[in-house]
Amino acid sequence: MARRTLAHYLIEEQRNKGVINADLRLLIEVVSRACRAISVAISKGGLGGILGEAGSDNIQGEAQKKLDVLSNDILLEANEWGGHLAAMASEEMDLPHTIPHRYPQGEYLLLFDPLDGSSNIDVNVSIGTIFSVLKCPEGADLTTPKAAEAAFLQPGTQQVAAGYAVYGPSTLLVLSVGDGVVSFTLDREQGSFVQTSDQLRIPAETSEFSINMANQRFWEAPIQRYVNDLQQGKEGPLGKDYNMRWVGSMVADVHRIVTRGGIFMYPMDGKMRSKGGKLRLMYEANPMAMIVEQAGGAASTGYERIMEIVPATIHQRCAVIMGSKNEVDRITAAHTAQ
Ligand code: AHG
Ligand code: MN
Ligand code: MN
Repeated sequence: MARRTLAHYLIEEQRNKGVINADLRLLIEVVSRACRAISVAISKGGLGGILGEAGSDNIQGEAQKKLDVLSNDILLEANEWGGHLAAMASEEMDLPHTIPHRYPQGEYLLLFDPLDGSSNIDVNVSIGTIFSVLKCPEGADLTTPKAAEAAFLQPGTQQVAAGYAVYGPSTLLVLSVGDGVVSFTLDREQGSFVQTSDQLRIPAETSEFSINMANQRFWEAPIQRYVNDLQQGKEGPLGKDYNMRWVGSMVADVHRIVTRGGIFMYPMDGKMRSKGGKLRLMYEANPMAMIVEQAGGAASTGYERIMEIVPATIHQRCAVIMGSKNEVDRITAAHTAQ
């Protein structure tokens, strides 16, 4: 396997393949440096004073952890001065962050979930950062944060890059620029991300599923039936035994699936219906869907392909079913057949 750095990989995607331009290359490098800084902060744990509550709520009414706020600040500061961005949007900010006038404006929009899996921070379980890159439409009004929101409202099929960092036993960066999916491991001594996988491929078949079973009584009928079939194992209609894994950080659960296959579900449920679902479309579902699809998997709400949803707001939510293609197809068929 090739041992090249992220910088080397990106140069080749630009120079040899023409898949990205210099600005997008810079953008991804800057995001990776921010993820490295977040990783360093996380690894200090209780010694760094980064655990616990921030004492504030975000726009979704969720209590922010210190690390949610810190990670958001690190990503904002790293990305605002390079000249590659027109604006940024985040789970932790009500409205987009426009680029201050003292810096040049670029052609890209960056969205992120700065810290995914907040409930796992204080218990030392894997957490992550998720990001999505769109092109800023020509003539977009970026004069105020409120006006800038419209520029972001594009379906996930328009993403030019997406990825995530997993802060686990090692720190990984998993990336797609629309040319498959590759992963990089942070070499802490060198301070750089080094490629540690060839193209990642999600097997079409699986025997592992990931869902928060505590919500079972709120699910819709097709998911109830599907999970019931999974639990019946060899004796049921699927004819094989399944195992269940649930970390509770989307990044970690989906990364396991990108690595060895499986199906991840945060379906619509009665409790979340009025909000549109649990996970956020633009900075959780879409970037993870791009990674999963680029690795040969599928990503659906049960009723439609996630990346074809046209968002009405940047904090919109949706149901998420993603992973091994045959399983996602089976669940989608069960939804349309109802
Ligand atoms: P975040 O920490 O960014 O708010 O996201 C948490 C998400 C996701 O990572 C995970 O799959 C899900 O919330 C878990 O939620 P529940 O524990 O409520 O099921
Ligand atoms: Mn999240
Ligand atoms: Mn988050």
